[in-house]
Amino acid sequence: MSQAEQAEPRVRPMTQEDVDAVYDIDVRSYALPWSARAYRYELSQNANARLWVAELPDEHARPRVVGMIVTWIILDEAHIGTIATHPDYRRRGVAEALLRQALRDATRLGAVQALLEVRRSNLPAQALYIKFGFKQTGVRPRYYQDNQEDALLMTLDPLEEPE
Ligand SMILES: CC(C)(COP(=O)(O)OP(=O)(O)OC[C@H]1O[C@@H](n2cnc3c(N)ncnc32)[C@H](O)[C@@H]1OP(=O)(O)O)[C@@H](O)C(=O)NCCC(=O)NCCS
Repeated sequence: MSQAEQAEPRVRPMTQEDVDAVYDIDVRSYALPWSARAYRYELSQNANARLWVAELPDEHARPRVVGMIVTWIILDEAHIGTIATHPDYRRRGVAEALLRQALRDATRLGAVQALLEVRRSNLPAQALYIKFGFKQTGVRPRYYQDNQEDALLMTLDPLEEPE
């Protein structure tokens, strides 16, 4: 394994300069990606939004944005809006590092539970959430517009600061 492949992901707040890279990851990861404008809006206009990126070294050892997460903190609830890892960098702990940071941040802001929607067919993402203790607590029938797929509602309650 190369040095770059051994590196730990570094998580930091997203900035406007990251939006092109974030949008590229989104398009590669989702049938219904957010627009670059949506990210710009969340960064600049939504005081409840917390946006993070993860970096790993590229083949020249330069930091590259390889994943992102967006969380909305509404009163004592953290809603995971989106999370994705660039397809070339999956299964290297990027999403786990992002989710850990987002949940830690949410607890510090007073959130006591976390929730999210996930496609019924998205078993990799469900495995990630189960690893953090999320449980399925509901179904939103035909939630996704592209194929009318159901969303599973998953909840982490109580939300405790991850190690
Ligand atoms: C789901 C997703 C974010 C995971 O990102 P990742 O960086 O590859 O995940 P990690 O390497 O941090 O994996 C953490 C854990 O998630 C689970 N997991 C991740 N990918 C998995 C897969 N393909 N199959 C089974 N479990 C998986 C495992 O429990 C894994 O822990 P382990 O490696 O110790 O087994 C990524 O596959 C992705 O971007 N998918 C497209 C977008 C998406 O579906 N987002 C979620 C929408 S709700």
